[in-house]
Amino acid sequence: MNELKHLLEPYPRVFVVYDRKVEAKALQLSEGHKAFAIDADENHKTLGQAEDICRSLMNENANRDALLLTIGGGITSDIGGFAAGIYKRGIRFATVPTTLLAMVDAAIGGKTGVNLDGYKNMIGVFHRPEFVCLIPEFLETLPEKELRAGKAELLKTFLIQDGENYTKAVQAIQKGEDLLPFIKKAAAIKQSITDQDPREKSLRKILNLGHSWAHAIEWKSQESISHGDAVAMGIIRAARLSENLNIAPEGLTDSITADFKACGLPTECPYADTELLQAILKDKKAGGKGLDIILLENIGKAVIKNISADDLLEH
Ligand SMILES: NC(=O)c1ccc[n+]([C@@H]2O[C@H](COP(=O)([O-])OP(=O)(O)OC[C@H]3O[C@@H](n4cnc5c(N)ncnc54)[C@H](O)[C@@H]3O)[C@@H](O)[C@H]2O)c1
Repeated sequence: MNELKHLLEPYPRVFVVYDRKVEAKALQLSEGHKAFAIDADENHKTLGQAEDICRSLMNENANRDALLLTIGGGITSDIGGFAAGIYKRGIRFATVPTTLLAMVDAAIGGKTGVNLDGYKNMIGVFHRPEFVCLIPEFLETLPEKELRAGKAELLKTFLIQDGENYTKAVQAIQKGEDLLPFIKKAAAIKQSITDQDPREKSLRKILNLGHSWAHAIEWKSQESISHGDAVAMGIIRAARLSENLNIAPEGLTDSITADFKACGLPTECPYADTELLQAILKDKKAGGKGLDIILLENIGKAVIKNISADDLLEH
């Protein structure tokens, strides 16, 4: 709390946008600043809600020197960051992530946006936060399903680039130990990757490990399988493909599957490989150029490989 106060000191005017579900704590943190509540669900992640935020800022005579602080999960930072990115052609933005997923992923890297006609994140801008303030107490009220989603993204980040912390994080999750050191490490990895490739021209794509499958699983299940669970299942598929293409050593998939199970993450999805691959190919509209798929050479080492549709279906 004091850390946030300190971080906000340099900004002459601060406006807060917070998720209604964390209202009590958010209002405490917003003391002395004008604060607006939003409904943080995908149906409200819209241009209309971003417009409402802009209107509230205008009604409060917010100028270019204002800072917009979001307090909430990825939906709140995506909408609030987007509103900050477009209000008066851009005011500064900062965030207090309140979900595990936002702490390790959504709050970092400057992607902001809203959905359009049910299509996710169709409209958005790159707008980097001035700072991300971690307040771990928010995790105490987070539902199990949301914690699982965050754990999947946390382990994904270490699988991509930090094998040592992957093993340690798996153990910490299993034993129910404090995850804060791992949250900080995973956030730093995402920060470093997005600093090197802010606009996702190449390197940043590795953060999408497992996500091609995850999107297909979510779509096929008509969203009854959550994004977090789909990511865990997708990572297992990516590992299996890496093995089948002889990119990863034999046994890698079994080893990650055992780790995920021990961490309470789902590993098996109800759809056959071919069904999912058809959906992936359709989604990505893979032409003659093939698809950029994120694969694992080993634990802690992800690579981007361009794979033809034929090879994908064969393996
Ligand atoms: N910008 C990016 O780089 C990026 C990356 C990943 C995901 N995202 C986006 O983030 C969103 C998902 O983020 P999320 O998982 O943080 O979801 P979220 O913001 O929807 O939060 C999940 C649920 O938990 C509730 N909640 C939030 N904090 C809580 C707390 N401390 N205690 C109790 N309940 C709490 C929310 O109201 C919501 O119901 C998606 O819209 C996705 O597109 C963005």
